[in-house]
Amino acid sequence: MCSIIGYSGQLTLAAPLLVESLKKMEYRGYDSVGIATLNKGNILVSKGVGKVAEVDQQLHLNELPGEIGIGHTRWATHGGVTDKNAHPHYSCSANIAVVHNGIIENYQELKVELENDGHIFKSQTDSEVIAHLLELNYEKSNFNVRETMTRTFERIRGSFAFVAVFSNGTIAGARYDEPLIIGISSDALFLSSDVLGFLKHTDQAIFLDNGDIVIVENKQYTIFDNQQTIVNRPVTQVAWELGSSEKGKFAHYTIKEIHEQSETMLKPFVTSNNFELFCKYLNDASNIYITGSGTSYNSGLLGKLLLSKFAKKKSEVYMSSEFQYFSDTVEPLSVVIAISQSGETADVLHSVKRAKEKGAKILSIVNIPTSSLARMSDCYISLDCGPEIGVAATKSFLNQLMILYNIVCILSNNNIKFDSKERKKLQAMIQTVLNLDNKIKTLINSLHHDLKDIYILGRSIHYPIALEGSLKIKELAYIHAEGIAAGELKHGPLALIDKESVVIVLNPNDETYQDVVSSTNEIKSRGAFIIGISDLHNDLYDIFIELPKTDSYLYPLIEIIPLQIMSYYLAIQKQLDPDYPRNLAKSVTVK
Ligand code: AGP
Repeated sequence: MCSIIGYSGQLTLAAPLLVESLKKMEYRGYDSVGIATLNKGNILVSKGVGKVAEVDQQLHLNELPGEIGIGHTRWATHGGVTDKNAHPHYSCSANIAVVHNGIIENYQELKVELENDGHIFKSQTDSEVIAHLLELNYEKSNFNVRETMTRTFERIRGSFAFVAVFSNGTIAGARYDEPLIIGISSDALFLSSDVLGFLKHTDQAIFLDNGDIVIVENKQYTIFDNQQTIVNRPVTQVAWELGSSEKGKFAHYTIKEIHEQSETMLKPFVTSNNFELFCKYLNDASNIYITGSGTSYNSGLLGKLLLSKFAKKKSEVYMSSEFQYFSDTVEPLSVVIAISQSGETADVLHSVKRAKEKGAKILSIVNIPTSSLARMSDCYISLDCGPEIGVAATKSFLNQLMILYNIVCILSNNNIKFDSKERKKLQAMIQTVLNLDNKIKTLINSLHHDLKDIYILGRSIHYPIALEGSLKIKELAYIHAEGIAAGELKHGPLALIDKESVVIVLNPNDETYQDVVSSTNEIKSRGAFIIGISDLHNDLYDIFIELPKTDSYLYPLIEIIPLQIMSYYLAIQKQLDPDYPRNLAKSVTVK
């Protein structure tokens, strides 16, 4: 998962524009950054390890001269995080440079072949083979860029999008299973992993199909499909709001996004979303599968419980990376609900492809309506929560749940109350919990600063929230955290509990209350420190975070908020950057 950008135009010099674009797409990877520009027939490359702003400050990337260029932010897959492995990669003669997102599966075999042919590699990356292959084919095709691109495309296997700049002033790109989008303005053309790469300059975009090659020269673009035929792809107007992502008064995107939830949570119900059609597909289905990764999987887990409890509908939920192993029973009357903030997660897209091949209908719940997932779906509902920049999913999780609740409400003929009046009440309650921010900050500061393990207990509909809370703590604060189904404690995890343990119990006063109190007693007697999150106080809690009283089935929507805020302050306490956790990227576009 890297971001790539290519630019050819008269808007400004290439370098400052590329740097700005990369800052917008940095969520895709932030191990290293680099750009290449074309200046007086020479390709200049500048690159280094670190985030865009850091590398720009050290190397003055934005001062590289030239009107045409390419850029990249990296999330390392092959080869360590080093300056040499940063993109762009040169060909030997330095008349081509390339940036790549994805994985070239046959790079070792190609590398041997190219080295035998005299090519000298400078990095350990799979990506560098593209630069040398392009060079080889450029010479073989007598410097014909189109032929060069086609021949190169034919040789590489895997998932990729790449953009190359040639010293003759052409930029060219190709994609297979990784996104590549053309941005079109009267003064410039862009090739980008995400519309965010050019949205400041134009809202006109072409989403290339799998197998497409695009060549940009003389202010024109030409697209070839996988049959090498020139094709016209539709131009889409993308929403400008997608590009509005400022931190405002907040120190980090993560806490800003947590706090804007009381506003964004109602957005899916403002625009005309496809709820009725979505539910019709579900009613007609022979069997229902739910899939997603990470946070989106956790919301799927809760979706399954709600469907079963309130709509009496059976469904199966699988992590997208595991879905393929359970897909034998998928058949034409099956329906797959795919949940994803980005709509670009490779595991999710692979699951959906597999299900589609078996004839299943695809319903998605997705934030980016122009994403690959939305475009592959028979019907989608948009999260409409605006750009989520923080790598940790927060507001997208709440909106996924809001949508799932509404679906269950429709399917169950209002067995749960979730009309606009109820949603407004819920909004006020979420605001009440968000107002606990300062209290939670103080609580976190009162805990000792070297926490090694945090456990979160919950039963039934609270268990997926326990899992989600623990995921937030792990990724933001780098603390081992585990969500545990409270009833499972005695089957093993209780052995972990001692005086050093911090245990958060999700314990609203519902049908699970007494059982969770029993588990809390068992933990308390082993000396653990207990943080209770509930509408009802209990003396077992060392610290009590009080939730407003509401209908019992709504608590998951509320109790996630203090867990998000806690995770944020645990990261701040350790002086970590919560927006960009180490080793992660917002959009995981590799399998
Ligand atoms: C959550 O905080 C994570 N960053 C991650 O688990 C994420 O939810 C997962 O990668 C799925 O992403 P998606 O929703 O964009 O498909």
